[in-house]
Amino acid sequence: MNQEILILLTILLTSLRSCFSSYPFDHRYDPFLSSDIYHETNHLHGDITRTRHMKNRHGYAPRSSPRAFNVNTFGAKANGNDDSQAFMKAWEAACSSTGTVYVVVPKNRAYILKPVKFSGPCKSSLIVFKIYGKIEAWSDPSDYKERRHWIVFETVNNLRVEGGGRIDGNGNIWWPKSCKINPQLPCLGAPTAVTFVECKNLMVSNIRLENAQQMHMTFQDCENVKALRLMVTSPGDSPNTDGLHVTGTRNILIQDSIIRTGDDCISIVSGSENVRATGITCGPGHGISIGSLGEDNSEAYVSNVVVNKATLIGTTNGVRIKTWQGGHGMAKNIIFQDIIMKNVTNPIIINQDYCDRVESCPEQKSAVQVSNVLYKNIQGTSSRPVAVKFECSKSIPCRGISMQNVRLVDQTQRDVSKASCSNVKLDTRGRVSPLCT
Ligand SMILES: *[C@@H]1O[C@H](CO)[C@@H](O)[C@H](O)[C@H]1NC(C)=O
Repeated sequence: MNQEILILLTILLTSLRSCFSSYPFDHRYDPFLSSDIYHETNHLHGDITRTRHMKNRHGYAPRSSPRAFNVNTFGAKANGNDDSQAFMKAWEAACSSTGTVYVVVPKNRAYILKPVKFSGPCKSSLIVFKIYGKIEAWSDPSDYKERRHWIVFETVNNLRVEGGGRIDGNGNIWWPKSCKINPQLPCLGAPTAVTFVECKNLMVSNIRLENAQQMHMTFQDCENVKALRLMVTSPGDSPNTDGLHVTGTRNILIQDSIIRTGDDCISIVSGSENVRATGITCGPGHGISIGSLGEDNSEAYVSNVVVNKATLIGTTNGVRIKTWQGGHGMAKNIIFQDIIMKNVTNPIIINQDYCDRVESCPEQKSAVQVSNVLYKNIQGTSSRPVAVKFECSKSIPCRGISMQNVRLVDQTQRDVSKASCSNVKLDTRGRVSPLCT
C-alpha cells in the first residue's frame, strides 16, 4: 500500500479510537458523573444539611449519610501557624469512614501546611476534598525534608478535589534558590505543590493553583483522571514551574483550564497513554510539551495524545515534542488540532536534540522514535521568522508527520514565516504555510 495512505489510515484510526474509547468520553464508568453516586449538598460549614438517598438494586434504601470532616473540627486554626496535623486528622477520619465522605476546608480562611501526605487506600467509596478557602505552603524550606513534594495524595481511589479555593506554594521563597536563577547554586530542585501518586478515578476541578515551589500539579502513575477548570498562575520568569505534569498516567482528560507559568503549561512524559487536553489557554510559559523523553539513555513511551482547542499566547513554544539523544522507546499517535498561536516563539517544534544542561550534550545514535503526529488547523503568529522546526534524529528520523491547514505568519506580518526541517518526511493536506524547503 502507498505509504501516504497507510499514514492517513493510522491517524484516522487513532483519532476514531480516541473519540470512542471508553474513557474519558463515556460516562458509564465514571464514578463522578453518574447521579446515583451522590447528591451535592450544602456543607460549607462542614454540615450535610440534606439527607441523601442512594439508589441501590433494592430501590431507595437509606445508607449511611455522607459525612463531612471539617478541618476546623480537628484543630485547624488558620492563624498563621502550621495546620497540617489538623488536616491529617481530618483526612484519617474521612479515609476510615465508609460511604461518601467530605474533607472540608472552609472559605475565607488561609491555612498553612507543612509537607503533607494524604494516603489511601481508604474505606470510603468516594472522598471529596472540598477546598473553599486558601491553603498556603509553610515558608521554611528546611522543614521540607524530602524536598520534592508539598501536598501529596497517594494510592487513593475515587477521589475528588474541588471547591473553588486556592492552593499557594509560596514559591517566591524557593525561586531565588534555583540553579536556573542563580547558576552558582547546586540544582537541588524544589517541591511540586500538589502530587497525585497512583490514584485511580480522580477528578480535580475548579481549583486555583498559584506560585508553586516548582511544578504546580503532577499526576504520577494515575489512571482515569479528569482535571477540569483549573487556573494555574505563577510569574513568567519563575523557574521550572510547570503547570500540569503528566507522568506514567493513563486515561487523563485535562479540560477548560488556564495556565500561566514560567515553564511548560502541560508536560506529558514517559509512561503516559491516552492523554487528552482540550480548551487550554496557555501563556506565559513554555507551551504544551510531550517530553522531555529519553534523558540519560532512558527508555520512554508516550502514546495516544490529543491536544485540541488550545490558545497559546506569548509562549516560547507552542506544541512541542522534545527528546534527548541516546534515549530509546517512542512517542507516537499524537494529534495537535484547532490551535491558535499568538506571538509564539516556536509554534510547532519537534526537537530530538534536546539538551537542558550547561555543558553541551554529546552526539548519540539512539533516539526516542517520534511517529504519527498530525498538526491540523493551526493558525496564528510566531514571534520569530522560523515558525515550524522539525529537528529529527539522523539515525532515527521522524515518521508519519502530517500537516493539514496550518497557517503561521511572522508576527510582524511583514513576511510569511519559515520552516526548518531535518530528517523528516512530511505529508501535507490543504493549505500549509510555511512548508519545509
Ligand atoms: C512578542 O513576544 C516577544 C518575546 O517573545 C516580545 O518581546 C514582544 O513584545 C511580543 N510582541 C507582542 C506584540 O506581544
